[in-house]
Amino acid sequence: MAAILVAAMVVLLSVTVAESATVEYQFEVATMNVTRLCGSKSIVVVNGQFPGPTVSAREGDLVVVRVVNKAQYNMSIHWHGVRQLRSGWADGPAYITQCPVQPGQSYVYKFTITGQRGTLWWHAHISWLRATVYGPIVILPKLGVPYPFAAPYKEVPLMFGEWWKADTEAVISQALQTGGGPNVSDAFTINGLPGPLYNCSAKDTFKLKVKPGKTYMLRIINAALNDELFFSIAGHPLTIVDVDAVYIKPITVETLLITPGQTTNVLLTAKPSYPGATYYMMAAPYSTAASGTFDNTTVAGILEYEDPSSPSSAGFNKNLPLVRPTLPQINDTSFVSNYTAKLRSLATEEYPAEVPQEVDRRFFFTVGLGTHPCAVNGTCQGPTNDSRFAAAVNNVSFVLPTTALLQSHYTGMSNGVYSSNFPAVPQSPFNYTGTPPNNTNVSNEFVPTYDSWQ
Ligand SMILES: *[C@@H]1O[C@H](CO)[C@@H](O)[C@H](O)[C@H]1NC(C)=O
Ligand SMILES: *[C@@H]1O[C@H](CO)[C@@H](O)[C@H](O)[C@H]1NC(C)=O
Ligand SMILES: *[C@@H]1O[C@H](CO)[C@@H](O)[C@H](O)[C@H]1NC(C)=O
Ligand SMILES: *[C@@H]1O[C@H](CO)[C@@H](O)[C@H](O)[C@H]1NC(C)=O
Ligand SMILES: *[C@@H]1O[C@H](CO)[C@@H](O)[C@H](O)[C@H]1NC(C)=O
Ligand SMILES: *[C@@H]1O[C@H](CO)[C@@H](O)[C@H](O)[C@H]1NC(C)=O
Ligand SMILES: *[C@@H]1O[C@H](CO)[C@@H](O)[C@H](O)[C@H]1NC(C)=O
Ligand SMILES: *[C@@H]1O[C@H](CO)[C@@H](O)[C@H](O)[C@H]1NC(C)=O
Ligand SMILES: *[C@@H]1O[C@H](CO)[C@@H](O)[C@H](O)[C@H]1NC(C)=O
Ligand SMILES: *[C@@H]1O[C@H](CO)[C@@H](O)[C@H](O)[C@H]1NC(C)=O
Ligand SMILES: *[C@@H]1O[C@H](CO)[C@@H](O)[C@H](O)[C@H]1NC(C)=O
Ligand SMILES: *[C@@H]1O[C@H](CO)[C@@H](O)[C@H](O)[C@H]1NC(C)=O
Repeated sequence: MAAILVAAMVVLLSVTVAESATVEYQFEVATMNVTRLCGSKSIVVVNGQFPGPTVSAREGDLVVVRVVNKAQYNMSIHWHGVRQLRSGWADGPAYITQCPVQPGQSYVYKFTITGQRGTLWWHAHISWLRATVYGPIVILPKLGVPYPFAAPYKEVPLMFGEWWKADTEAVISQALQTGGGPNVSDAFTINGLPGPLYNCSAKDTFKLKVKPGKTYMLRIINAALNDELFFSIAGHPLTIVDVDAVYIKPITVETLLITPGQTTNVLLTAKPSYPGATYYMMAAPYSTAASGTFDNTTVAGILEYEDPSSPSSAGFNKNLPLVRPTLPQINDTSFVSNYTAKLRSLATEEYPAEVPQEVDRRFFFTVGLGTHPCAVNGTCQGPTNDSRFAAAVNNVSFVLPTTALLQSHYTGMSNGVYSSNFPAVPQSPFNYTGTPPNNTNVSNEFVPTYDSWQ
């Protein structure tokens, strides 16, 4: 009896092992000269590609990525949206879960993708190097498990990015020193290409070639640093099937909204017969901020049908009519709340909506904007010339540690590095309708209620 049980277990184990695989990648980080918007500059990229290579795995797979840093900058890579269950050392934010990979050094990231399928992405997680160091993560369902929708004919990653003519490390370093907002970008990009609406950029246009009647799955990623983007393809409704690697109840829209860091899979069905036209796909920001504080330009790519009468025709046919989509107004908050309200979990037996019904612990956060004094001889753009703006949580501003927080915790040396306690209630009750407090005698210590590491 016992022998039979053991045999059965061995069979089960070997089935489990066979179902998941190990996928391995080598990432070589180095600089490369790239020409965009009428000018050349040096950017940091992975494997000489911009955007970087696609990491492709199935749900349940072990992903191993060896990062070799041949650039002159410290580097770390974050696997955006991957849950990192018990693989915290692989998460990537510099000085949070690891010290950066220094020039000439390498680091092996190892993590298993558990309970997620769809699209995520990877990017540099130190300073602003993610402006050019990014690429898709494609997570296919487990072998033999179908999509909860008809399988598309083809799948295409579509990454939005932001392009600065200036060196992005200079942009963020200036912003941190002065406390002013960082200089806004000069263009948005689709798969690294600004497209025909920008100067010198018609040659740098993303084109999606489609066959009539076929359904394509666009794996859309917003890799822009700071902008929420509207996206639409003229004459082609989009069916959203997945958001942030979670299936949703499909919704069909003319325009979608995607925030920085977010991903979404959409189905695009090409018209049943050759339409004799080409269509712009466009992305432009949503913002209610003052004009001048964000990039308000528009990126376009082209959806082009393969012409059945000349199947070998390459390139963009200038003689065809070009149809443009209509995007919402830049400040169309009503569109945004409508769109967001439509997102619903799939909630089927295979993909249940597992929303926790009970709250175990409560954390009290106040998010604020304060000021710091300007550095001696520094130039500041804070509310006054001798101060700079600084954001804070519970009145504490983030200071980049010099040893990674996870390392401080692991070695038991977190004293004076970070406070592990968050209050559950305000340390001093604030009367929102009363007279403003005088801000004296207010302790800056957290009330220790819960040790988040235990
Ligand atoms: C980029 O261009 C600069 C100036 O033309 C040149 O000095 C440098 O070697 C180039 N870098 C690469 C990686 O090709
Ligand atoms: C790179 O990282 C090392 C180790 O954390 C640090 O000592 C060094 O100052 C960093 N270099 C730069 C330019 O930030
Ligand atoms: C930011 O913009 C200002 C104003 O146009 C310019 O003077 C400055 O050089 C820019 N900073 C960087 C780092 O490009
Ligand atoms: C594009 O080029 C034209 C002509 O040189 C110039 O007037 C215009 O300012 C440029 N636009 C941008 C956004 O650089
Ligand atoms: C974009 O912002 C600039 C200022 O940075 C402003 O002059 C321009 O009118 C704005 N364009 C649109 C379409 O809002
Ligand atoms: C959006 O911007 C337009 C044009 O600048 C303005 O007329 C309108 O009042 C703004 N709408 C909202 C809701 O702020
Ligand atoms: C938002 O939804 C409401 C109710 O369905 C509709 O009346 C309104 O026109 C929508 N607004 C936009 C901007 O789509
Ligand atoms: C500030 O500038 C003055 C005058 O240039 C110089 O003497 C002083 O050393 C500087 N202080 C610091 C901390 O850089
Ligand atoms: C801040 O500095 C600028 C430029 O140096 C100067 O024009 C302005 O008067 C200063 N403002 C205050 C409040 O000191
Ligand atoms: C916030 O912190 C500053 C300096 O650390 C202190 O002066 C101030 O009283 C604090 N304010 C509150 C509301 O705790
Ligand atoms: C808040 O302040 C207002 C005005 O002073 C007062 O009427 C009210 O009772 C205060 N509320 C609480 C909860 O203390
Ligand atoms: C705040 O300061 C004012 C003026 O200095 C004083 O009259 C008042 O009593 C103070 N309030 C509190 C709550 O300390």
